Amino acid sequence: MTPPINYDDVQGTLLRGYRADFARHFVLSISNAAAAGQFIAALVAGSNGLPKITTARRAFPKPTSFVNISFTSPGLAALGVAASDLQSFDPSFQLGATNAAVANNVGDVGTSAPATWVGGLANGGQVHVLLSLWVKDSLQTLEALSTQLRAAFAGGGMVELSAHDATALPDNKIHFGYRDSIAQPNVAGAPASKRAADDQPVVATGEFLLGYPNESGGTYSVTPTALSLNSSYAAFRILEQDVAAYDQLLETYATQAAMDTEMLAAKICGRWRNGNPLELCPTEQGTVLPNAQLNNFTYVSTDAATDDTLGLKCPIGSHIRRNNPRNAAVVGTDSTHHRIVRRAMPYGPPYDPSNPDDATRGLVGYFINASVHNQFEFLTSQWNDTDEFVKSAVPPGGSTQGNAVSNITGQDVFLGVNDPASSSFTLPALGKNGTNNTNLTGFGRTITTRGGVYCFFPSISGLGYLASLSQGS
Ligand code: HEM
Repeated sequence: MTPPINYDDVQGTLLRGYRADFARHFVLSISNAAAAGQFIAALVAGSNGLPKITTARRAFPKPTSFVNISFTSPGLAALGVAASDLQSFDPSFQLGATNAAVANNVGDVGTSAPATWVGGLANGGQVHVLLSLWVKDSLQTLEALSTQLRAAFAGGGMVELSAHDATALPDNKIHFGYRDSIAQPNVAGAPASKRAADDQPVVATGEFLLGYPNESGGTYSVTPTALSLNSSYAAFRILEQDVAAYDQLLETYATQAAMDTEMLAAKICGRWRNGNPLELCPTEQGTVLPNAQLNNFTYVSTDAATDDTLGLKCPIGSHIRRNNPRNAAVVGTDSTHHRIVRRAMPYGPPYDPSNPDDATRGLVGYFINASVHNQFEFLTSQWNDTDEFVKSAVPPGGSTQGNAVSNITGQDVFLGVNDPASSSFTLPALGKNGTNNTNLTGFGRTITTRGGVYCFFPSISGLGYLASLSQGS
């Protein structure tokens, strides 16, 4: 049995969604390790007038602001973690998001290449710390806390390279108009959530925290042990969304697919823009389902009435089916081995098609996992950027109706490296070998990467250890 999690030792964002209205992510470079250590110690203690690092322990009444901190591999080195210890960390984390092989693997190429990234993120070696602040309700509180933190880290041996803001849109919508923050993994032992419980499998704690058994029966860990138990990793991403281009894509291809733009938007995502999943609402979006039902579905069943092996309701290449194929047959390990916790929020103003602008907007935040390599990078490189992961599978009606392998092409419309010369999205139809499918081709990327950082979130005791390293104790 998995040992209980000491919530006081876990950084909050790893296991709790804060449901904040505003966020600010500071990108910092360490210029003086000893001063940085003192700053970290003060954040852990909540001393020197600084907000205290938020833990996974829920507090009542719920606080209105939350703070978490993470480090890159060069950041840990700057604080004094030995090179021999860094070698025990996730291999992709060691390389960092700007490494050419890493970037290539996750599709950060061309207009998404690290060289084009904003806010000092292009130079991965100088990015040491991500300090994130989430605030409920009040922009004033965000500014007041930012002023406090800025004064402290400037005096605390850290240089601000950039800050990246996020602002929630009404109804948990993101740019492109979809409701987000619906499906999250049920992490074994995580604090009870206000979010309505769904019927999806519980995922082993070790997929999200170091030091606990994971889905493969192993345990991710690092040395020194002080940094291991209750720590985790995340991919921080700034993903710019071109709303006008996406609207245009929907207009163009809805005509080709002989469906309305809302239906095509649902087919691309797997959920209607109001959040209802195609599996439960296949023909029209309908009124929003109760929260408790929004995530209760699978893709494959022995009952022909509910089965969707072929992706006739929710395309096999849709965004949510690629990123969590649930009980559908895939090559290699199943989806419980590759789940991620998403803590991203929109940035930039809402796009008004009647008053087009050049503002930048998108999604910014963390994709959390205990293995960057097996989770974030696996999802991106194996399930979003290829069409080769689907296993041969026939529906209860038999092989004359089709086979799942014939019903996916190309890459994820949202996250893929979509080149008009090769892009393809399949709307499956009944028939052998996909002969009746509609393949939409010739579209480009509507989402580009504007920044990425691979981060390590130490446990609270691990933060204490890091703080003490640079004090020579
Ligand atoms: C701007 C970029 C992105 C957009 C517009 C986007 C959009 C969405 C939307 C609308 C949903 C459905 C809401 C929900 O189920 O909570 C969703 C779900 C999801 N997305 Fe994304 N997403 C983006 C980036 C990513 C990235 C970078 C990943 C990871 C590599 C990812 C993985 C997932 C996963 C795992 C789910 C839940 C699937 C499920 O469990 O059914 N998304 N996304």
